[in-house]
Amino acid sequence: MDILEPGYSYRDSDLIKAAGMYPFFPVLSSSEGPVVTVDGRQVIMLGSNNYLGLTHHPEVLKAAHDALDKYGTSCTGSRFLNGNLDLHETLERELAEFTGKQAALVFSSGFLANVGTLGQVGSTEDAVIFEASENHASLYDGARMARSRRVRLFDDVEDLGRQLARRTSWTNALVVTDGVFSMTGREADLRRMVALKKKHGFRLYVDDAHGIGVLGPQGRGTAASQGVADGVDLLFGTFSKSLASVGGFVAGERPIIEYLRHNVRTFIFSAGLPPASAAAALAALRVMQREQGLFDRLWENASYFKAAVERVGYRTMGTTTPIIPLFIGSEAVAMRMCCEAMRMGLFATPAVYPAVPKGHALIRTSVTPAHTREHLDGAVDVLAKLAAKYPVYMGDPAKLPAAREMDIEKEIRRWLESQALHKGDPSAPQSAA
Ligand SMILES: Cc1ncc(COP(=O)(O)O)c(C=O)c1O
Repeated sequence: MDILEPGYSYRDSDLIKAAGMYPFFPVLSSSEGPVVTVDGRQVIMLGSNNYLGLTHHPEVLKAAHDALDKYGTSCTGSRFLNGNLDLHETLERELAEFTGKQAALVFSSGFLANVGTLGQVGSTEDAVIFEASENHASLYDGARMARSRRVRLFDDVEDLGRQLARRTSWTNALVVTDGVFSMTGREADLRRMVALKKKHGFRLYVDDAHGIGVLGPQGRGTAASQGVADGVDLLFGTFSKSLASVGGFVAGERPIIEYLRHNVRTFIFSAGLPPASAAAALAALRVMQREQGLFDRLWENASYFKAAVERVGYRTMGTTTPIIPLFIGSEAVAMRMCCEAMRMGLFATPAVYPAVPKGHALIRTSVTPAHTREHLDGAVDVLAKLAAKYPVYMGDPAKLPAAREMDIEKEIRRWLESQALHKGDPSAPQSAA
């Protein structure tokens, strides 16, 4: 077979577009934070990870502008050899202090940090990696790269405990989990994981992309909020969410970070984080530690919005964070609803397989401190109209078995057939051909 054949025969995106339900790659032409412009129209943004709204904070903007003037646009090389800025080193020092770890290492993206670090630490002789089933793709890929044994994924901490009970000592094992699971907004039970760690002696890697800047005192993250920050051996964070930039970091004990600094290939063989991005992350880190009001508004908005969508009837899947998922079920329905939401003035993103199990599609929303009550009420109004119109699964998601297969063509046909019953709907898709 021609190695490029899968590309030549790929049809899914065309089918989804032809069915009028393609919600991906929306083009933003400007952003004020809680409101963005798409197709020349202003829409309420509930699809970002801008949890503290710092992308538009004056201090963060100024730091990025100043860094551009001082260092130019790019490092044009690896930090290892020629792209290491004083900004990177300051950022690493302040991240270490912030996380309560001895040292930190800054990467050009969070994905690179996870893949490279796990690939490296998981490749020692006889290593075993336990992974949480809801983990982010970069953790899965890092574990795959590690060439070590991967023990069946665990669904929760009890499941992990059962698997660990097969042996008394697991000093060769790394347990890898998100602090906050990115699709459902649920928190991992790190307190109990750390208790298991004391019993079995494994090492713990926490990806806190959605916990840092959200949970814990001054946004110190999920482990800090559960009182077990010291039990985490390697703490991962990204700058692409609360820290209003791009890039990522891993923090831990000094010898481990020193080892990573000289061995992780995605760090050594990739250009350093651009100056403006490093400066923006550093400024955001400082603002975040100072402005408690941001967290107060974030949590007020999160509980207001969650209660409002639950009153409409949506299932929010046990979220305890500003990520508020709306369980939908069918992929086609979730995609279609997001397209229609955009036309009605609301930007919300679909989460479909492989980000979630097959047939367990969500609409993922998240709020920021910058949203006003008017924005949130407007969003709820759109979501209530959509819930009245579309076949949203309103039962308990845990009782809905995941679909065995996910064939987008079949999903779309099913949707079109169901729409043939709604002839009066002018926005109903016309053809899947
Ligand atoms: C849980 C989690 N880990 C890692 C990443 C990767 O971070 P980055 O955007 O910095 O590459 C993301 C981003 O989507 C994430 O949600």
